[in-house]
This record gives sequence, C-alpha cells and structure tokens, in this order.
Amino acid sequence: MPEDKLSKIVAFCRRRGFVFGGSEIYGGLSSIWDYGPLGAVLKKKIKDVWWDTYVLGREDIVGLDSSLIMHEDVFRASGHLEGFSDLLVDCPGCKKRFRLDKLEKKDKHAYRCPECKKDIDIEKSKPRKFNLMLKTNLSATEDNPNYAYLRPETAQGIFVNFANVLNTTHKKLPLGIAQIGKAFRNEVTTGSFIFRMKEFEQMEIEYFVHPKKAAQAYQYWVNERFNFYLEKIGLAKDNLRLREHAKDELAHYAKSCTDIEFNFPFGWSELEGVANRGDFDLTEHARVSKKDLSYFDPETNERFIPFVIEPSAGVDRTFFALICNAYHEEEVKGKLRTVLKLKPSLAAFRLAIFPLLKNKPDLVELAKNIFYDIKNKVSVVYDDSAAIGKLYRRQDEIGTPFCVTVDVDSLTDKCVTVRDRDTMQQTRVSTDKLFAFIQEKTN
Ligand code: GAP
Repeated sequence: MPEDKLSKIVAFCRRRGFVFGGSEIYGGLSSIWDYGPLGAVLKKKIKDVWWDTYVLGREDIVGLDSSLIMHEDVFRASGHLEGFSDLLVDCPGCKKRFRLDKLEKKDKHAYRCPECKKDIDIEKSKPRKFNLMLKTNLSATEDNPNYAYLRPETAQGIFVNFANVLNTTHKKLPLGIAQIGKAFRNEVTTGSFIFRMKEFEQMEIEYFVHPKKAAQAYQYWVNERFNFYLEKIGLAKDNLRLREHAKDELAHYAKSCTDIEFNFPFGWSELEGVANRGDFDLTEHARVSKKDLSYFDPETNERFIPFVIEPSAGVDRTFFALICNAYHEEEVKGKLRTVLKLKPSLAAFRLAIFPLLKNKPDLVELAKNIFYDIKNKVSVVYDDSAAIGKLYRRQDEIGTPFCVTVDVDSLTDKCVTVRDRDTMQQTRVSTDKLFAFIQEKTN
C-alpha cells in the first residue's frame, strides 16, 4: 500500500463526511478527530458486530459499561502511574519532541531527527519520562485538588468490577467481561490520522480462566480474533498478520502478547493486541484495595486468583483498516471511479433509490413510494439531487451495495433497474420482489 494512499484516505474521509478534524473551526487539536454522519454509522456497525458476536452471541461472556474517570489508586495498583510513560527527547535542531523508541539510531548515543535530520545526542539532550495518562481535578477548588484520571484502557474498569460481576451474575469460570468505550492517552507521536489518537475507543474482553488453562485460552483468542477480522469485518487475508512480542517488548503486566497487524498505508502496524496478563491485575488490585478478588471453584473446592487473557481491539483502528481495505480506485470508460468495497452489512445503506429523471413528477412519486415502502425494513437512501451517473458515483464511494433506478418503463411494467456496486451489472427486478432481492444479495 503506497504512502500517498494515506493522504487520499484522509481527504476521502473528510470529503464524504466520515472523519473531520476535532475542533476544526478553531484550528484543530493534534491527534483528536471527530466522526461525521457516515463515520458515526460505520463506527457503530463495527461496535455492534463485536458486541453481537461476543456478548449477545455467547454464554461465557457478559457486558459492562464502567466509568471513564477513575480513582488514582486504580492506576497505582495497575502500574500505570509508575510505568505508563514514554521516554521523550528534544531535538536541539528543530526543538521538536520525539519518542525515543521511534527514532532512527545512528550509533551508541546518537539518533537521527525525523524532521530536520540533525543528530540528537542523548548524552546532551537527556531523554525524560512523560506519563501518558490524562489527569483531571474533581475538586470544586483549584487550591484543594482531588485528582482522578481518565482511563488509558477500558480494562481497568473491568478488573475493579470483577467481584461485582461474579457476585451478581453467579457465573462460573471461564468467564469473559466485555466492554466498549473511550480511553485516553496523551500521545506524543502524531500525524498518523486516526491510528494514534489522544481520545479513542476500545473493545476489550478480559477472559478469566484457571491459571492452568491460560496458555490454551490465549491461543484460542489469538485465532478467534484473527478470524473475526477476516469473516466479520471483511479484511483481506493478505493485509493481516500475527506478530508475537519479544520478551523485552512486553507491557509491564503481560506474560505474552501477540499483535494482530494490518498493512496500513504507512506499513504493518498493530490493529489489536491479545495478551496473557496472568494474575497481575487482580493480585495488584486486591493488594492495594485490600479486597478479596479470588475465585472459589465449587466443583474442585479450589480458591485461586484467575489468570486473564485479553483481546484488546481499537474501534478507530478497525475503522481505519476497514476503509483502507475497502477503498478502490478504478478506471471506467476513461474516468476514475472510487468505490468502497465494504461488506453489505457494514455499509451505511443497503440500497439507494433514484428517479431517472427528477423533472417527471410521476417518476419521483413512484421512487419515493418505493423508498417509503422499504424504509422500515432496511437502511435505504433516496436521492434526486444530480444526474444518474453522479448519483451512482456518490453511492459507490460510500459503499452502498445496490442502486435502484426508477425509469419511465417502471410506471407500466412495475420493475426497476438494480445496479450492483462492484460489477456495475444491471438487473431488472419487479418492485414487489425488490426487498427479497436485496435481502438475498446482501445477507
Ligand atoms: N488493555 C490493553 C491495551 O490497552 P494496547 O495495545 O495499549 O493494550 C489496545 O491497546 C488497542 O487499542 C490497540 O491495539 C489499538 O487498536 C488501540 N489503541 C491503543 N492506543 C491507541 C491510540 N492512541 N489511538 C487509537 N487506538 C489506540
């Protein structure tokens, strides 16, 4: 995937109302983005597929919706206060600040500045630790602060509610607790669109198991999540790969971790991490909160702290990967056609309806009647604001799988022309069979 694809995708997302810059009319904020009308629909569909698959579709997983603002002690226990930081270094040339681990190393002490290409000698420009968590003050006065933190991962909301969930659901292990929600990190590396944001959304499962079953569950989740991207999101196999973390790369809580990587326009990068967090989190929260977070197995009479396997996915990265994967440009009759080859179930509209001629009131009326007839059954859009060729292109670009045109013949033969987004083939379908036709083709 060439690098210039990134600028094309950013421009496309803006032009069609998928993604806008955050606080744009005031000059924007770095690494903060807003989702427009079509972006909001696509994002919700991604979350729904995940939730339906894991929370509604399974007996062994329950959902949770915990708060974004959390007690300071949560992060004392989780290790984030101490350990969730990047080493940053200032370039003496351009004065910009960079993450040390993202710089190109020249020799023992020298790194190359990615902006001005000057050498950064870390003996002179000493790297400093910078905590990624966003702090907020819950006190009404500035002089008597009561600090709390915006969670940097949804996971901590799950760990602190582990006992609540067990006691109220009476579920047995293995048990997954799933959550979708915002997370916040004061990221320094910028410029990769929605890949790295300061405010983003995660879809996380903490899957609690007996320590002896952790290795097996870990393998299961790596495969399960890889297949989810292929089958449910429709990413191409060639654009996906697994990468196991080396020991020195592991987060402070992880025993092992495998990234599911996608071939983004700037190269292979993490889409999701599947980690074996061992008993680190429950043990630490039990220690700091002085609450019992062990599990008692009534069948074996054994009491233990469960291990946890964590498939942790980013909503925004899935969205980004999906757009990159689906975005196609092709030449049709000497003109460029942009088409978003989304799975029909993820497209904002299953079909679009147009009258061939908008100055013919009876065609407009028939097209609108078909639209209102089908509207309650399937997502559909009506448009008569341009010539037919342009209307097709608009729908191709946003991934609508079928366009329906109502023409003069439709008034007498009660049939419409249905055009397929990918093949551009046209089929004549009777209006009373239109819904069944779309159902069959898009389910
Ligand atoms: N609970 C584990 C955890 O948070 P992570 O690898 O730091 O692990 C998991 O994050 C996923 O969250 C990533 O694979 C990515 O999809 C998403 N993510 C993390 N940081 C992000 C950011 N700054 N912007 C967008 N997505 C992010």
